[in-house]
Amino acid sequence: MPGDLSTTFTGLRFHNPFLLSSAPPTESESNILRAFEVGWGGVVTKTIGLHPVVNVVGPKTKFLRADADSARLSMKKRPGAALHSSWNWELISDKTLDWWVPRLGRIKEAFPNHMLVASIMAGSGNDTELRHWQELAIACQDQKCDALELNLSCPHMDRPDMGSNVGKDKELVSIVAKVVKEVATIPVWAKLTPSTTDIVVEARGALLGGADAISSSNTFTSLPLIDQDTLEFEVHVDGLVSTGGLGGPAILPLSLAKMSQLTQAFPDKSFSGIGGISTFEHALNYFLLGCGTVQICTAAMLDHAIGPNVIRDLNQGLARFLERHADKGWKTVDDFVGLRRDRIVAQSKIRRPDEKGYRGGYDAEGYAEPASV
Ligand SMILES: Cc1cc2nc3c(=O)[nH]c(=O)nc-3n(C[C@H](O)[C@H](O)[C@H](O)COP(=O)(O)O)c2cc1C
Repeated sequence: MPGDLSTTFTGLRFHNPFLLSSAPPTESESNILRAFEVGWGGVVTKTIGLHPVVNVVGPKTKFLRADADSARLSMKKRPGAALHSSWNWELISDKTLDWWVPRLGRIKEAFPNHMLVASIMAGSGNDTELRHWQELAIACQDQKCDALELNLSCPHMDRPDMGSNVGKDKELVSIVAKVVKEVATIPVWAKLTPSTTDIVVEARGALLGGADAISSSNTFTSLPLIDQDTLEFEVHVDGLVSTGGLGGPAILPLSLAKMSQLTQAFPDKSFSGIGGISTFEHALNYFLLGCGTVQICTAAMLDHAIGPNVIRDLNQGLARFLERHADKGWKTVDDFVGLRRDRIVAQSKIRRPDEKGYRGGYDAEGYAEPASV
């Protein structure tokens, strides 16, 4: 019997554990409807806010590619090059809440059993700004959205009280989660930035504030490369650039490291894994580390804007994987979530070639023994 692809995450039933993340693939009603038609288990809308948004002139996202036969990395399109990463400096949705509200309602009417997660963002500098979070949350849940994802993670906000600037402050993360939870009747996920020293600290803040799940990662702060002929950045406006976000294959191992820190620190909590996924093989890493769902952006953007082939591969990959491991009694994704969470250990716990003791470099003459290694 083929395995069951469905799963329950933060109390919500998903047809499959694969979601489009908050980004261009989910920026419009037509995209989201198409996404559900082609089989995505859920979508997280492009982030909705109340403040004015105007994007830069020219491209908001570009793709960095690597040559197979040289070390060249460039955004210039050329045959035979493989995708390295996406780079973007796109702000949140430039559509207003009023624009979104009827569309969210219509999407839920058309697909009542597909999970629609509303990504929201407001400021956090004062009580009025904090009330904006509540206004956004109430407006989306009134349209029957199934969950909220708090954008505490966009890396290119000028305002110090928005996006990853909030996500870097454990107190603010906690306050925003708490304020939203005060009015939320649906699950609240907190999407954190990877650009901090220890993501566990901010996750603890979100969970103390009452968040039901952590989503990680958003894009990594980064710059486009400089062209050696023109001496211009490969993305710029009038010669100027600001830091943007790196996504796609290059961030898969980086996001996994963040995720393993999170799932080890909070083994009983719910996690949605994001970063560099384009195949089931990639997604499997996140499941084995302890994620109940995963989200995809860059790969979907490059596949007809909403990823019909990507979701087909993910669903087929999961079905085949369950079939291959049927002898272990695995019937759903829940049967292998977290199975490799505890395989990441301190360096000193890794076996040495000749079984000589190594205690993290602490036992050399003249050095004190630590309390615990
Ligand atoms: C062009 C672009 C726009 C994005 N916009 C948002 C956004 O509005 N809100 C958000 O939470 N994340 C946003 N993201 C981040 C993605 O949702 C995702 O976290 C990131 O791209 C990593 O996933 P990937 O490696 O599959 O691309 C955006 C990413 C890209 C490339």
